[in-house]
Amino acid sequence: MIHHPRGPFAPGDQVQLTDPKGRQHRLVLCAGKSFHTHRGSVAHDDLIGQPEGSIVVSAGGTAYIALRPLLADFAVSMPRGAAVVYPKDAAQIVGLADIFPGARVVEAGAGSGALSCWLLRAVGEAGQLTSFERRPDFAEIASANVERYFGGPHPGWRLVVGDLDSAGLDDADRVVLDLLAPWDHVAAAATMLIAGGLICCYVATTTQLARTVTALRQHGNFTEPAAWETLQRGWHVDGLAVRPEHRMVGHTGFLITARRLADGVTAPPRRRRPSKGAEAAELEASPGEDQGGSTSEDA
Ligand SMILES: C[S@@+](CC[C@H](N)C(=O)[O-])C[C@H]1O[C@@H](n2cnc3c(N)ncnc32)[C@H](O)[C@@H]1O
Repeated sequence: MIHHPRGPFAPGDQVQLTDPKGRQHRLVLCAGKSFHTHRGSVAHDDLIGQPEGSIVVSAGGTAYIALRPLLADFAVSMPRGAAVVYPKDAAQIVGLADIFPGARVVEAGAGSGALSCWLLRAVGEAGQLTSFERRPDFAEIASANVERYFGGPHPGWRLVVGDLDSAGLDDADRVVLDLLAPWDHVAAAATMLIAGGLICCYVATTTQLARTVTALRQHGNFTEPAAWETLQRGWHVDGLAVRPEHRMVGHTGFLITARRLADGVTAPPRRRRPSKGAEAAELEASPGEDQGGSTSEDA
């Protein structure tokens, strides 16, 4: 049973302290201990028993807001082996890859376990997440991070140290791939997915994006893939001085989704004119057509 801490702070809770400049520190509460900042120490006992959202003052007189970290805070500051999926993309994956409570999800690779935490929280204790990670050292980091986030093993999680293609699964509702060459695993994903299931791939570069979309189309047993990225721009709001922040969370990666068709069904040919620069093979498929770069749908 997963324990989601709430109510007054207790020993073992993770706490995030935020100073007046917005700098954050993370600690795990332990009776009798002190947390040392460059503005003096904070006694854990001053926090234990206090409600979340309390203020604690360090020996140097600095006031800190004390809150339990959100998953987005945890995911960007946890120990890493591989690069993690950023919260803006994890939120899109959970929402637009339609990860639902009770879902059976396959993930590869687990990397540092950041996306595993998001997926496990979305499928809940009634769901199943099987995460593949071929590097044992990364699998160890992922396992430690997931256990730290949930305060122990998650009953719905199975971490397999090995290659995704060795899965031998055939009942997945969703397959989520965050690895270098998703196009190499499209056929394996199709075998794992039930009819109507969804594949979601997260890639960093346009070359990976193009190869993945092409592989999904060429496989034939998927719907036309959707591809997009999300840019997150904060806004500075101070009286009438309301403007976009100068810095933003810009490009991190692209997301690609497609639905698995029923067994034996092949997607009808696309009725979209190939655009200028499309692969030669694609252009040759419709020799008489205008190749003027239009992306509009044929009527
Ligand atoms: C970018 S990391 C994943 C990060 C992870 N999504 C997170 O948020 O922490 C990619 C991982 O995929 C693993 N990987 C690559 N190909 C794989 C395969 N065929 N099967 C299993 N794991 C694989 C790599 O070892 C690496 O750890």
